[in-house]
Amino acid sequence: MFDYAKLWLKYTPKKKNTGCECLKKVVFSGKYSHDKISENAKKELQAGLSGMLGINPEITEDGACADSERSTCVKATSGADIILREKYSISVKEGSLYITADYSTGILYGVFDVLRTVGCDKDVACAYQEEKTVYPSNPLRMLNHWDNMDGSIERGYSGKSFFYVDNEIVINERTIDYARLIASVGINAVVINNVNVKQAASYMITDRYFDKLAELGEIFAGYGIGLYLSLNYASTIEIGGMDSADPLDENVIAWWKIKMAEIFKRIPTLKGFLVKADSEGRPGPFTYGRTQADGANMLADIAKEYDALIIWRCFVYNCRQDWRDRKTDRARAGFDNFMPMDGDYHDNVILQIKNGPMDFQIREPISPLFGGLKKTNQMLEVQIAQEYTGQQIDVCYLIPMFKEILGFKTYCNGESGADDTVADIISGKTFGSRFSGIAAVTNTGNDFNWTGNYLAGANLFGFGRLAFDTELPAEEIAEEFIRMTVSDDAEVVSDIKEILLPSRTIYEKYTCPLGIGWMVTPASHYGCSVDGYEYDRWGTYHRADHLGIGVDRSDAGTGYALLYNEPNASMYNSKENCPDVLVLFFHHLPYTHVLHSGKTVIQHIYDTHFEGYDEAEGLAEKWKSLKGKIDEDIFENVSERFKRQLANAREWRDQVNTYFYRKSGIEDEKHRQIW
Ligand code: GCU
Repeated sequence: MFDYAKLWLKYTPKKKNTGCECLKKVVFSGKYSHDKISENAKKELQAGLSGMLGINPEITEDGACADSERSTCVKATSGADIILREKYSISVKEGSLYITADYSTGILYGVFDVLRTVGCDKDVACAYQEEKTVYPSNPLRMLNHWDNMDGSIERGYSGKSFFYVDNEIVINERTIDYARLIASVGINAVVINNVNVKQAASYMITDRYFDKLAELGEIFAGYGIGLYLSLNYASTIEIGGMDSADPLDENVIAWWKIKMAEIFKRIPTLKGFLVKADSEGRPGPFTYGRTQADGANMLADIAKEYDALIIWRCFVYNCRQDWRDRKTDRARAGFDNFMPMDGDYHDNVILQIKNGPMDFQIREPISPLFGGLKKTNQMLEVQIAQEYTGQQIDVCYLIPMFKEILGFKTYCNGESGADDTVADIISGKTFGSRFSGIAAVTNTGNDFNWTGNYLAGANLFGFGRLAFDTELPAEEIAEEFIRMTVSDDAEVVSDIKEILLPSRTIYEKYTCPLGIGWMVTPASHYGCSVDGYEYDRWGTYHRADHLGIGVDRSDAGTGYALLYNEPNASMYNSKENCPDVLVLFFHHLPYTHVLHSGKTVIQHIYDTHFEGYDEAEGLAEKWKSLKGKIDEDIFENVSERFKRQLANAREWRDQVNTYFYRKSGIEDEKHRQIW
C-alpha cells in the first residue's frame, strides 16, 4: 500500500477495447536518442499497458541514435527549439503501433498520449488510424511551487511540502511519481521553491544543497522536466556578505559571475531562475534607483552563458497604500512598472505576468500587459493553488476560467484582430518571441491525494493538459481526469462533470459580484469579510457606501481602463458597454443602476448570492448520489469538503446580502431572508 494516491496514473484494469491488439507490438521510431527519457517512456508504457489491459508489449526501437547532441542535458536555445524536441506522431501500421519522434521527449509524450487513450477507454486503433502529429502549444509549461524549506507551503491547502523537511531536500519514490504525474500531462518545467526566498531557501545556491539539487534535477530531466529555482535578488547581501545588490555595481556583477559558474557546474540540469523582486517586501533593484529591466538583465546576461533563463515576475505594486488615497490604483501597477521598458529586457528574460492586474481573484480583467508588451518575452501566470478560489475546500474547476483568459483578444495587432489572443502571445506566435509559455502556482502537498480535495486534482491535471494544448475544451479535460482518476462508469463521469463544469460560476456567484473581489478574510483569504480589506494598505477596495459600490477605473477615475488597446479600452471605459461581470471592477455605480441583464446592481447581488448557495447545495447533493459507485476514500474526502463548502457559501450569502441591504436600504424584490 502506498502512502499517496496514484491519481491518473493508477493504471487499474480497463475494459479491453476493441482496437488494442496493435498495442502488443509497439515501435519507438525516429531519430530520437536512447537515453533516460526513452527508458522511462518504455517503463511507463509497460506498466500502463500491463496494468490497464494485461498486455505486455514488445517494444522495439527502430532508428534510435546515440547522438550526444540530442541528449537531454543540451539546453534548448529558443522556445521553438523546445517545441520541436517535444513533437511526436502516432500511427498504426501493419498491426503495430508506431510512436515517432526526433527527440526522446517526443517519445515520452507519445507514450502518455497512448496511455491516456487507453485510460479514457477509447479505441486505440481508431484514435491513431490516421497518423496523429502533435506539437505542444506553448514552449514552457511550468509549475511554481511555493514550498518553503521548513516544509510549510505558502498558500498550500494539501498538507506539507514533499520536497522539504526541516530545511533538507527529500528525494524518494514520491519524487519520482510526482515527476511522472506532471510529465504525463505535459509539464516541462518546475520551480521547486517559494518566490518569497528567505532563510534557508537563500542558501539553495550554496554547497549546502547542490548535491541534492543535482539529484533532483536528474530525476526531472529523465521526464523531460527542467529544474528552476526561485532566487533571492539580494543574495549578494544575504549570502555573499556584501552591502549592495545594485545591478549596475561591478562588484555585484562579479559576485554573480562566480556564483552562477558554481551553480551551473554543480547542477548541470538547472534551466534558470524565477525572481520576485521589489514586491511585498522582497528586495529588488528599486532600492538602488534602478529599473526592473536593470535587475533582470544583469542576472540574464550572466545566466546566458549557461543557456539559462531569468523569469522575472511583474507582481510589483505598492503594498503600503493609504485607503484614503483614490488616485493610486494597484491595478495599474504592473503596467506602469513594466511597460515603459518594453524592448529593453534581454532575450533570455521572460516577464511572468499574473492573469489579472490584481491577484488571482475569481474574476478579474486580463492584465493589460498582455497586448501592451510587444518586444518582450512573456509568460502567463495563473494559480491552481485555490488561494482566493476556495482553498481546495470549495470545489472550483478553474479550467473554464483559464480558457477565457487564453481566449481574450488583446487587439495588439490592431482592430483586425489577427493572432492577438493571450494564447497566441504566450505561444510565441504573435511576436515570434524567443521564449514564452504559461506557469501555474501549484496546488500540491503531501496529503494522500496530493491536492487536499480529490476534485482539485482536476486543476493540476487540467492545467497541464491545457498548457500543452490550449485548444482542448474544458469539458474534455474534465472527462479525461474523471475517467483516469475516479471512474469510467458513464453515469459517474457525467455526474462529476456536472459538478466540475459549473463550479467556477457558482463560486463566483457567492463571492464576487460583478467583478468586485477581495471581500475575504484578511491574511487567510478564506471566508467572507466584506470590509476586511476596505481600510487596509493593500490597494484592494470596493468603495461601497449607502448609494453605490465599485471602483472608478474609467478616464474619470484612475484611468486604468485606458491601458487596453481599442476597442477594449472604450468598452471597459463606458458604464454602458462594460460587460456586467466586470462592471464594478471598472465603475462605481449606484445600487439602482440597471445592468445588461435587466437587473439592478443590488438585485444582482441578492440573486447571485441566493443562487450561489442553492447551486452549491445542488452540487453536494449530486455528490451524495455517488455513494457506493466510487472509491470510498474519494467519496468521503469530497463529502467532507462539501460540508465545509456549504457552511462557507452560507456565510458568504448571508453576510454579503445583509451588508448591502443595510448599506442600501433596498429590499430584495423576492423578499427572501436577509438578516
Ligand atoms: C499573493 C499571496 C502571497 C504571494 C503573492 C505572490 O499576494 O497572498 O502569499 O506571495 O501573491 O504572488 O508573490
